[in-house]
Amino acid sequence: MPEYIHVSVAWPYANGDMHAGHLAGCYLPADIFARYHRLKGNHVLMVSGSDAHGTPITVEADKLGVTPRAVFEHYHGRFLETQRQLGISYDLFTHTDTENHRRVAQDVFRKLLDGEYLYRAKQRLLYSETEQRFLPDRYVEGTCPHCGYDQARGDQCDNCGTLLDAVELINPRSKTDGSTPVMRETEHYFLDLPAFTDQLRAYLSNGKAHWRDNVLKVSQNKVEGLKGRPITRDIAWGISVPLDGWDDKCMYVWFEAVMGYLTASIEWAHNTGQPDAWKRWWYNPDAKIYNFIGKDNIEFHTVIWPAELMGVDGLYADADDGPITLPYDVPANEFMNIEGRQFSKSRNWAVWLPDILERYAPDAIRYYVTMTFPETRDSDWSWEGFITRNNTELLAAWGNLVNRVLKFAYKHFDGTVPDPGELRDMDRVIIEQVEDGFERIGGLLDAVRLRDALTETMALAREVNGYLDRAPWFKVVKQDKAQAATTIYTALRCIDALHILFAPFLPFTSQQVHAFLGYDGSLFGDLRIETFEESGGTHDALVYDGAGAVGRWEPGDLPVGQALRQPEPLFRKLEPALIDEERARLGQPREMSQPGQD
Ligand code: MF3
Ligand code: ZN
Repeated sequence: MPEYIHVSVAWPYANGDMHAGHLAGCYLPADIFARYHRLKGNHVLMVSGSDAHGTPITVEADKLGVTPRAVFEHYHGRFLETQRQLGISYDLFTHTDTENHRRVAQDVFRKLLDGEYLYRAKQRLLYSETEQRFLPDRYVEGTCPHCGYDQARGDQCDNCGTLLDAVELINPRSKTDGSTPVMRETEHYFLDLPAFTDQLRAYLSNGKAHWRDNVLKVSQNKVEGLKGRPITRDIAWGISVPLDGWDDKCMYVWFEAVMGYLTASIEWAHNTGQPDAWKRWWYNPDAKIYNFIGKDNIEFHTVIWPAELMGVDGLYADADDGPITLPYDVPANEFMNIEGRQFSKSRNWAVWLPDILERYAPDAIRYYVTMTFPETRDSDWSWEGFITRNNTELLAAWGNLVNRVLKFAYKHFDGTVPDPGELRDMDRVIIEQVEDGFERIGGLLDAVRLRDALTETMALAREVNGYLDRAPWFKVVKQDKAQAATTIYTALRCIDALHILFAPFLPFTSQQVHAFLGYDGSLFGDLRIETFEESGGTHDALVYDGAGAVGRWEPGDLPVGQALRQPEPLFRKLEPALIDEERARLGQPREMSQPGQD
């Protein structure tokens, strides 16, 4: 029975380009996982989008002197293109400033209010009399009450790392004009998290053996001593509060962005002409929802989002719908450093994806990033590692295997899969070894151990190279063509299996191998940017279309006599000189288009 697998991917703030850390943190793991389940024939729904709201967007807009909309639209467009090129196959990658998202988020708000999970309370916050507005945390700086650092930000001290509330700062000042803000009373809605304590405790203690240790520990700790959280803000950019008299306030960005997993599923269902189809994941007790996120977002996904879901159970539901689905797993990744140092946008210590896509093939990038996934601890992008792994693993082990076997078959066997005659023991052994990979590597993929899964797949490719070193083919083809045919047939069978095993990781080159082997059709389908209309306007989104995909997650039976296609090299050798060239780019000013200039 096919399973219902929902791949919920963190929504990136649309305030800057995507970098390698983003890819390693969640987008690539999510894509590999989704592609694997699609090959298995499961019903996959993978959604995300640009996080359009919040102070990260408005701070950038203020810096550039443009509107928040200009900032998010600029980067949203770039996210679509970057992810299309990398093959991050969202069924829908939309954004949080759509009419659909606003409508559903406001319905969620109302449902929580009706269920008495929201309450109103007064707060005293910093208000700027010169700007006549309340200052969001990131707009205030001052002296840290913990370490005395005099340039602590209102949300966090960069010197000692403590999370702060802007009102705790000593000598606070506005970052915009340096003026001293005053305390002023304001009223907000709070999410009553303590009301969910028992349910959350139960959720986090039942059947969570498959969770990563750190994710479970962080989450269980957060559930003890929960306090109500304000979920509205005195800001103008965001999703408005659907109540009279609240016109000058918006929902807190995290409160509404996590809802995107649900709202985008609803948008996807609407776009595909089956408006109720999202319920197959969200109101189905057998569905599994996986949240792919970075470690800094754990609490929002394992405590706050589940609480919101518990509070809105039954939203848009029919009588026969099951209870709402909570995340089945939250495989949060750690961080990826760059050449031993932390990513920094201001110092331009980064590997920007749009830039490297101009110089390297998407599968070369995907391969290296997967092999350095920070699944259990922080990892490091090193240019030496990138170049070396490309040359000694991707190209030398897998690329050359495909290239030499297919070229040889093409040349000596009339471009067809040769008849092997009777297989020898050595042939049967290697075929079995590779074909057994589906179960073993599938098990690793199921457990979201993606780096191990790719390592094992590459090890199998090496085994086949070892087999080719032992078996007769190259030297005997003139005298004993039948022996050579047995070997080449065996190697082709192994390549046939391997190109599927590699497909979730390396979809572009696996598709090429698929064609070289003489198959028609697309392993996965199509990924394209589409424009959608709502009554308020249009928006672009990335859309995966798997109709007609011919992929499988099992060994094939490569037909003898099948016509092969002329092979071409799968990967490019990268010159070692590139290591220094790329390192020299780090920390240098970067040329790029800015919001407001497109
Ligand atoms: N925008 C946040 C970030 O980039 C992530 C939001 S994930 C969501 O860190 F689920 F809340 F959308
Ligand atoms: Zn401090």
